[in-house]
Amino acid sequence: VEWSDSERKTIASVWGKIKVDKIGPQTLARVLIVYPWTQRYFGSFGNLSSASAVLANLKVANHGKTVLNALDKAVKNLDGIKATYSELSQLHCNTLNVDPDNFRLLADCLTIVVATSFRSEFNPAVQATWQKFLSVVVAALSSRYH
Ligand code: HEM
Repeated sequence: VEWSDSERKTIASVWGKIKVDKIGPQTLARVLIVYPWTQRYFGSFGNLSSASAVLANLKVANHGKTVLNALDKAVKNLDGIKATYSELSQLHCNTLNVDPDNFRLLADCLTIVVATSFRSEFNPAVQATWQKFLSVVVAALSSRYH
């Protein structure tokens, strides 16, 4: 993947404004509420029985932060995203048995959470670059599946 200087700037700028402790929990909660079949992977997380239970669940919030913190590595290493996520891809495939289609669902929920948080600042050009970045992340996380 090629990144123009303006794309690099946009990704750094969006990432710089993302509060991981707020956006992470909201993103994972949305995945679990909007696509409830994803709850099957989080059997050890306790009560996920309603939207309000998911939103109040501290394990969901903490894991949402973990997932978003993992994105920092991609932002800081735009030219080597595939290698950056090689181990994480293997973990999700071999150990966690997560269907890779779910990476796209999480990426889409993240875009929606960022959009509702940034409002008009998240204009179409910014969205296009942000989604390009997330597509590369999703491809990297899927790259070690077999
Ligand atoms: C664990 C990142 C998407 C399910 C993890 C961990 C990270 C991570 C960093 C912790 C790994 C460790 O402990 O060494 C990501 C990223 C994602 C993503 C960056 C996408 C951008 C997903 C999706 C699902 C999922 C879509 C399922 C729908 C899990 C599960 C665990 C896990 C079940 C183990 C949780 C636990 O029991 O603590 N992920 N993940 N992940 N991930 Fe993902």
